[in-house]
Amino acid sequence: MAKSGEEFIARFLSRAVSPGGLALEYGAGGVDYSRFLPARLVRTDLTADRGRLEVCCDIQALPFRPGLFDLVFGIAVFVYVPDLEGAIAELARVLAPQGRLVMFEYVRMINAYNRHYKKRAGYVHTVGLGRLGRALNSAGLNWRRLDLGPEKGRLAPGFIARRRWLIVEAGRWS
Ligand SMILES: C[S@@+](CC[C@H](N)C(=O)[O-])C[C@H]1O[C@@H](n2cnc3c(N)ncnc32)[C@H](O)[C@@H]1O
Repeated sequence: MAKSGEEFIARFLSRAVSPGGLALEYGAGGVDYSRFLPARLVRTDLTADRGRLEVCCDIQALPFRPGLFDLVFGIAVFVYVPDLEGAIAELARVLAPQGRLVMFEYVRMINAYNRHYKKRAGYVHTVGLGRLGRALNSAGLNWRRLDLGPEKGRLAPGFIARRRWLIVEAGRWS
């Protein structure tokens, strides 16, 4: 991922959690965002060979108590997850009452990416806002799509233009 893409994600995340909070990253096999966050970060992934991880676990069955995390986030993970509704329910379960869930997902991938994921995982899911929104609602979360805003122009072309990201923030705000 381009450096400007990392910085873009890091800016979102650092605003979404208070200093001293506890954050969870699911499907964390990429950049280590702990250096950008004011909170302690627990990095998790399904497979153990994905860099520094605290816990190896499936997003569909998280080994954490309810309401533990002030921030839960993941980047490009649902592309691999068959049970989107079950996984969202799990993320909502471990989210603190005032917590934030931030998801960065691909909504449209160029053919090369589709081929890459199909080869690796045997299948590929592109995540649409309709189904994702319904899953978040069913899990008792409010949500909003985050606007790329003025930072859009500063992103590397490969990061946004070729992959098209869907960025959603969810929580129990009223
Ligand atoms: C496309 S990679 C993205 C990795 C990283 N978030 C990034 O942005 O570079 C998808 C990650 O999701 C993980 N993953 C796939 N299925 C998962 C599941 N059911 N539970 C947790 N992690 C999963 C994979 O092991 C992989 O590390």
